[in-house]
Amino acid sequence: MSEANESKKMIFSGIQPTGVFTLGNYLGAVRNWAPLQDEYNCIYSIVDMHALTVKRDPIAFRQKTLESYALLLACGIDPEKSIVFIQSHNPSHAQLNWILACSTQFGELSRMTQFKDKSKKHPDDVNAGLFTYPVLMAADILTYNADLVPIGQDQKQHLELARNIAVRFNQRFGETFVVPEPYIPKVGAAIKSLQDPTKKMSKSDDNPNACVYILDDKDTIIRKFKRAVTDSDTVVKFADGKDGINNLMTIYSCVTGKTMDEIESEFAGKGYGDFKIAVGESVADSLKPIRDDFNRLMSDKAYLKECYTQGAQRAFRISNKLVTKVSRRVGFVDVR
Ligand code: TRP
Repeated sequence: MSEANESKKMIFSGIQPTGVFTLGNYLGAVRNWAPLQDEYNCIYSIVDMHALTVKRDPIAFRQKTLESYALLLACGIDPEKSIVFIQSHNPSHAQLNWILACSTQFGELSRMTQFKDKSKKHPDDVNAGLFTYPVLMAADILTYNADLVPIGQDQKQHLELARNIAVRFNQRFGETFVVPEPYIPKVGAAIKSLQDPTKKMSKSDDNPNACVYILDDKDTIIRKFKRAVTDSDTVVKFADGKDGINNLMTIYSCVTGKTMDEIESEFAGKGYGDFKIAVGESVADSLKPIRDDFNRLMSDKAYLKECYTQGAQRAFRISNKLVTKVSRRVGFVDVR
């Protein structure tokens, strides 16, 4: 995509480079991004600036950012169809962040549940970036005039804030920003922990069996599914109170495309053991091409660099128009 096609809606989404995506990130988010590329103008970003709100070792951080970028491509994000870039490579985000921060109230940021959770988790580093994180996220979205933003349920409050900031800015300075809508996929949006299926699958889980990573090898994946917590019943059936089985069925359905009814009849008369192995195998098989592609990309650093450099240039061409417009609106002196 060299120039944005005006007749298509604009999609923006970001993912933090905090490590290999989990099966939850993949099925709930990234996998749903690839099919959007034909219908929309898509811009996808590895949001390294957001990741800096938590203390990181610079060397590992740089490596993870590159790996996350390669993973996006391995998951089917096509740098020819979409704009794929690393957030810190486009200065528009930081520029707009400041202007929008001046249109955001301390009180509204204080109400963000993610800020409250994260400050409890890292009481020794409640930095200002953590507090203004949602403003930067608003800048990410608004600087491309995105119509739709694919997000998980946990980011709805942040998107709501971005919408409020856009509306308020438009009222004060005149129509400037598109007010973005959330785009929440219907299936697979909430993959749960394999060890505590009432909680979201998360890489920060202390139990290594709780979470499947998309680069895990087949044996590891099957082992984690074999150990998945279920219930004392024996019937593979989607029902209230069967959180563990519901989660495994959701995963199996996402990966195979089968409906819950089809899965129930496929495993009628079979035990949980067979079902868990089948889920593990189907997940491992569907992730194999991603793992192969990832390894190929990571061994071709020159190609990766070419991709993210071009991605950032294309992103900047779009976002800088808006930064210029916004600068005029607020009354900065024009330099051009
Ligand atoms: N905060 C998002 C998350 O942790 C990541 C993110 C940053 C994002 N900027 C964004 C998502 C803009 C969508 C749009 O999941």
